[in-house]
Amino acid sequence: MATETEEIRGLGHRVKRKEDDRFIRGKGTYIDDIKLPGMLHMAILRSPYAHATITGIDVSKAQAIPGVVAVVTGELMAQHNLAWMPTLSGDTQAVLATDKVRFQGQEVAAVIAEDLYTAKDALELIMVEYDPIEPIVTPQRAMEPSAPVIRTDKEGQDSNHIYHWESGDKEATDRAFAGADRVVALDTFYPRSHPAPVETCGCVADINPATGQATIYMTSQAPHAIRTVFALVAGLPEENIRIVSPDIGGGFGNKVPVYPGYVVATAASLLLGRPVKWIEDRSENLISTGFARDFHMHGEMALKDDGTMTGLRVSLLADEGAFHADAQPSKFKVGLFHIVTGSYDLPAAHVTADGAYTNKAPGGVAYRCSFRVTEASYLIERLVQNAAYELGMDPADLRLKNFIGKDQFPYTSATGFVYDSGDYHAAMSLALEKVSYRELRKEQEEARARGELVGIGLASFTEVVGAGPHKDYDILGLKMNDGAELRIHPTGKAILKISVQTQGQGHETTFAQIVAEELGIQPEDVKVMHGDTDNTPYGLGTYASRSTPVSGAATAMVARRVRQKAARIAAHLLEVSEEDVEFSKGKFSVKGAPDKVVTIQDAAFAAYTNFPDGMEPGLEGVYYYDPPNLTFPFGTYAVVVEVDPDTGVWKVRRMVAVDDCGVRINPMIVEGQIHGGLCEGFGIAAMEQITFDENGNCIGANFTDYLLPTAWETPRFELGETVTPSPHHPIGAKGVGESATVGSPAAFVNAVIDALWPLGVRNIDMPLTSAKVWEAIQAAGGSTST
Ligand code: CDP
Repeated sequence: MATETEEIRGLGHRVKRKEDDRFIRGKGTYIDDIKLPGMLHMAILRSPYAHATITGIDVSKAQAIPGVVAVVTGELMAQHNLAWMPTLSGDTQAVLATDKVRFQGQEVAAVIAEDLYTAKDALELIMVEYDPIEPIVTPQRAMEPSAPVIRTDKEGQDSNHIYHWESGDKEATDRAFAGADRVVALDTFYPRSHPAPVETCGCVADINPATGQATIYMTSQAPHAIRTVFALVAGLPEENIRIVSPDIGGGFGNKVPVYPGYVVATAASLLLGRPVKWIEDRSENLISTGFARDFHMHGEMALKDDGTMTGLRVSLLADEGAFHADAQPSKFKVGLFHIVTGSYDLPAAHVTADGAYTNKAPGGVAYRCSFRVTEASYLIERLVQNAAYELGMDPADLRLKNFIGKDQFPYTSATGFVYDSGDYHAAMSLALEKVSYRELRKEQEEARARGELVGIGLASFTEVVGAGPHKDYDILGLKMNDGAELRIHPTGKAILKISVQTQGQGHETTFAQIVAEELGIQPEDVKVMHGDTDNTPYGLGTYASRSTPVSGAATAMVARRVRQKAARIAAHLLEVSEEDVEFSKGKFSVKGAPDKVVTIQDAAFAAYTNFPDGMEPGLEGVYYYDPPNLTFPFGTYAVVVEVDPDTGVWKVRRMVAVDDCGVRINPMIVEGQIHGGLCEGFGIAAMEQITFDENGNCIGANFTDYLLPTAWETPRFELGETVTPSPHHPIGAKGVGESATVGSPAAFVNAVIDALWPLGVRNIDMPLTSAKVWEAIQAAGGSTST
């Protein structure tokens, strides 16, 4: 495809990112760049306690400071019926606390002032009296009958248990385990981590008192859905609400939810009749906005002695924080975790999940993963590695034996997904070849004989992205479909308006390439607009790698619709019937007479100047895409590490990543996405963790406690690709944005455990800090020195 369309630069071309022209010049427009006349500034007072009853709030001193325009409390919000708001999982969340505080950093009051410094100074003068209650910092403690109930606000809620959810066939799974030669089990914990986008969350709410027009500039990955939620929650007429998400400095799932700050700033602008700006600082972002993961997982695999996998049993306990706010379709209480059977032909599986309230920030966002797939992928890949060792098999051979075969697609998993396409053997074979796996195993034996700890870790993941088909996938009842609107101007230049919202993924380039492929208009001539609800078609936004599978498909479909009309115009210009016209690379020609040509640009001009009688003038269209299925990108990652037994320090010697995301629109952008994802996966495996002390104090509220990998720590990545098109996607693409973060943590951890297995180490929970690795070596009695 790439060579055919070389001159047009549609699919498969490494087109440089159009958006970088403004970014590298420092000319991006982020929320904090927006300054409106008469704009006020808001700062939020947050709870120092994780769990406490509020017995009094005195705002009089704060209110008296010159420059303070208003102090907002939960009580004031309650008067406007805005003290509580819905979460993405249909629970309720306090906007400003009225009764209790339920996590450290929870929003208690807000000051609106002429400038930010005055607002922050005034926060210090708000007197809040708290009566502390025992903080619950683990879901295990939360589930004990003696634990204090966190959600006393909810009628009928007499424990901290939120949900019980099951997937798969319990009886069939029990039968598989009863007949198994061997059962391998693993308990593991996927720690709480945070997406930590470079730009924190914020907004500028501007409500015109004269017209009622509400324009809210907001760091949002899902502006259309937010507009609808605002209309429903605040009772504002939807046509008067315009959400603008300009340039977004990274989202990674963190900018999907509605946060209290957005609601308070909007209410304040409504009440005061002036624009109000609110921007979080780094600690506020880390302690109070959507976290990710925090799953305690138990997995068991049933196997035959020859390595055939026969069953999988999984139970989970999720730490949901104080409000159940997981970003996920309402049908699935733990998102798409039931993809936990991964890339394997497992005939039986059963998954149970329970969620518990704790005194921590809410979240469960799709942090570079599609609704909990990261946790699922981690569990199965750790379990498979341990199973291989227990069976005395090579981990690559165990995988190759049990992979779903390429002829088995479409494949229905034991938990009910229909995998669209795949060739797992090919991806793994390429990864093994690139890393010289078989030779490495020999080298490892020699190294072990010398007392060196060398480990080789593999992870073969299957992602599930592109939510999704309207029957099963929604957010708060809104079906997860997306639109694209395309207009070709008389000069043949185009504007494409998309419902998804780029936060650095390069949509302005790749979506223009889809139009280029379909219509033959160069990507430079296709301007891509997004992030403004008044000016783009409706859709559910960008997260969980859904942009390409859903809005990318809508883009291809609308371009085809426009092409059909252009063909009718071309037939008119060529004075032939439409059936006699054929299209290739931006040119319409007469079948059998290739010299008679009308370009797409000629047809566009004629759409406004010389169209046939009876035809509606203009050349534009809109398409809303309801995907028939999800898409299932996949890959195999291989990591080689060396572990120092005396310090526990581990170093990545090699990292090979083979990804298959179907047809690649822009290979350069895909590789960038994979690099970013691998870097995040490495960070999670090696250093990222938000934890809490026994009082519920958040450890990880700044970048000296919450460690992100920099270029210094990040290993070099070697990439490879296979191409297995998605059969139902109009251009055969699968999403890729999340895959590497989903697939790689297990590969890093598997490599370290591989190195330490002979010493007796069976598992270390992430992050694998050198201290933890050293302790595990000591505990296994395998150290050479102390
Ligand atoms: O939803 P999000 O944009 O985060 O994820 P995605 O759909 O996986 O796409 C990430 C970026 O990679 C976008 O710019 C896509 O257009 C691009 N991409 C691509 O060029 N080819 C693919 N097969 C998949 C994604």
